[in-house]
Amino acid sequence: MTGATPTHVPYALVTGASSGIGAATARCLSVAGYTVALLARRADKLEEVRRTLTGTGHLVIRADLNEPEDIQRAIHQLRAAFGGLDLLVNNAGIGYRALLEELEADTLMRVFQTNVFAPLLMSKAALPLLRKGRKPVIINVSSVVGRRGIPGQAAYAASKAALCSIGESLRIELAADGVAVCTLCPALTTTGFFDAQPNPAGLSDPELNRADPAASVAEEVLALAVQPKPEKTLRWKWKVLGALTPFAPRLSDRLLVKRLGGDWEIPRR
Ligand SMILES: NC(=O)c1ccc[n+]([C@@H]2O[C@H](COP(=O)([O-])OP(=O)(O)OC[C@H]3O[C@@H](n4cnc5c(N)ncnc54)[C@H](OP(=O)(O)O)[C@@H]3O)[C@@H](O)[C@H]2O)c1
Repeated sequence: MTGATPTHVPYALVTGASSGIGAATARCLSVAGYTVALLARRADKLEEVRRTLTGTGHLVIRADLNEPEDIQRAIHQLRAAFGGLDLLVNNAGIGYRALLEELEADTLMRVFQTNVFAPLLMSKAALPLLRKGRKPVIINVSSVVGRRGIPGQAAYAASKAALCSIGESLRIELAADGVAVCTLCPALTTTGFFDAQPNPAGLSDPELNRADPAASVAEEVLALAVQPKPEKTLRWKWKVLGALTPFAPRLSDRLLVKRLGGDWEIPRR
């Protein structure tokens, strides 16, 4: 790596870069001068995104993060192309809208595989490359529901809570390596996320007219890459709910049910 030179070109890996927040993040980072490796399963979509990036040298890595050998292969490709890594954005994720009685073991496993185990394994595999980076940063894209569980998405919310917890552990564990670890908790964001996820109950889609654009979440990723913070929640109401829950769970439940609307009931006992 050219870490010590003033003309250092930072290298980033963005998982889940074939659409939504990941694609917007890759674009945003490229404008900021990063050379970006775009990783996902759909190579054609990754190529489309690569064509929209600023600058040259960007890399497409087709990989299924649920396959540990794909993670190893991705790291080999990165080492060969970049030599080191300054930024890892663990963004790939899948949702799961299902009521308790509809939960299926296979889907449950896949949600935790993609949202929890994959970022852990990717962080582990990328660590030797990050150690060669300049002021290296890992950013885990969690969710506001990682700090306040919501009905109809117990499995997804639990997976994002696990990712928040991983950030708490790793940011201390990796301090000696000089690797900053940040957790980003976006709120509702306009992407294809809700079309892609299993939804056996046919729970209604959220109102995306109130959602943040993916490009604004990408700007937050860039801000954390430049100036790491342990955790950032993108809507203050969700931040309040998350902080309130351990101390005043009933009040938190009431506020959440009011916010969600629909047929959810406030627990009475
Ligand atoms: N949209 C929201 O409202 C919202 C809110 C808070 C947090 N988030 C989080 O933001 C992140 C990005 O979501 P998004 O909204 O941008 O949704 P999205 O457009 O559906 O993007 C998800 C990305 O993850 C990739 N992916 C999924 N499974 C993968 C696997 N096994 N291996 C490799 N890549 C995989 C997908 O690519 P391929 O299908 O090509 O593999 C895609 O690029 C997720 O972690 C999500 O939980 C989203």
